[in-house]
Amino acid sequence: MKTFLIYGANGYTGELITRFAVERGMKPILAGRNAEKIESLAKQYDMPFRVFGLDDKEKLDAELREVEFVLHCAGPFSLTSKTMVEACLRNKKHYLDITGEIAVFEAMARLDKKANEAGIMIMPGVGFDVVPSDCLAKHLKDTLPGATNLTLAFYGMGRISHGTQATMTMNVGKGGAIRKNGEITSVPAAYKTREIDFGEVKKTGVTIPWGDVSTAFYSTGIPNIEVYTVMPASNLKMLKLSRYIGWLLATKPAQNYLQKQIPTGGPNDKERAQGKTYLWGEVTDEKGNKVESRLQGMEGYTMTALTALKIAEKILDGNFCTGFQTPAKCYGADLILEIEGVERADS
Ligand SMILES: NC(=O)c1ccc[n+]([C@@H]2O[C@H](COP(=O)([O-])OP(=O)(O)OC[C@H]3O[C@@H](n4cnc5c(N)ncnc54)[C@H](OP(=O)(O)O)[C@@H]3O)[C@@H](O)[C@H]2O)c1
Repeated sequence: MKTFLIYGANGYTGELITRFAVERGMKPILAGRNAEKIESLAKQYDMPFRVFGLDDKEKLDAELREVEFVLHCAGPFSLTSKTMVEACLRNKKHYLDITGEIAVFEAMARLDKKANEAGIMIMPGVGFDVVPSDCLAKHLKDTLPGATNLTLAFYGMGRISHGTQATMTMNVGKGGAIRKNGEITSVPAAYKTREIDFGEVKKTGVTIPWGDVSTAFYSTGIPNIEVYTVMPASNLKMLKLSRYIGWLLATKPAQNYLQKQIPTGGPNDKERAQGKTYLWGEVTDEKGNKVESRLQGMEGYTMTALTALKIAEKILDGNFCTGFQTPAKCYGADLILEIEGVERADS
């Protein structure tokens, strides 16, 4: 029976993906570096398990030989993805992860040729960041093929998990990013704000360096990309303040302190069930044409588990594209509509 490895299965998102996979009758191998946690999780779900650190190259290679692909859930991915993707290239196994970090997407894009030579698919970002927004971007580009500018926005992630907060904290002080004339360009944190009409709700959005600044370019070829999110006024104030004190927050002692303050876990089942996400996107071309579209769906971590497993199922069925891929580039703009409960509306 074809199987796959969930590495970092004991993390908040890894565990949620594991639970959903079991509910779907899938039988992944659960893996991670913490023997006690991985063993107890495997017992709970009656799943096979392996314990190894990413520094154990021999074990990593041996475990990869057993599977079709890895669904890498151990982030921050700027610290863990290089080792895992290199092992996938060595062993000719597909690589999926749930990163949202621009630098990681760009590093993966540079591996396109090697992935093609190995006959594998490298697809980072199979979670909330970037599956729905990537599909929305591709849908907009398909509707207005001459588009030169893409603006995306999302709202409603709800409470965030330990790993998401750890990744955001690690990147504090690095400022923002947009894509301009095809190049990823640094901009100040909270560079721009604007009103966003999500359909059911209107909110003020603020630019953030979300994964699509990297990925939407590969999915659509659109050279100018901005991504907005909605955040409470207090967070927006802090983000603007980080322009001035970001360097201090990025120092080792400050990072050690801040990382220790982050609570473990993430939204519980009730919070996830009550959560909802809204996405909006707009493309324009040089002739002044404009197309808008919106997506609505479930809470962000639930969507992450559903989209990651949807792509996992496709690979197990032999449906994959070799090389560096984004979700919509390989599977098309309607991939997100395969997730029950997600709706798209054009205007
Ligand atoms: N794209 C998306 O939409 C999306 C959605 C959800 C999460 N994420 C990202 O996914 C990552 C995980 O988030 P989370 O909240 O699930 O995190 P978490 O609860 O903190 O779990 C992190 C997992 O990664 C493992 N890990 C971390 N560093 C490692 C290393 N150097 N070597 C081996 N294992 C390591 C941890 O193992 P130990 O327990 O042994 O420390 C744990 O299993 C974060 O980067 C987050 O931003 C992205």
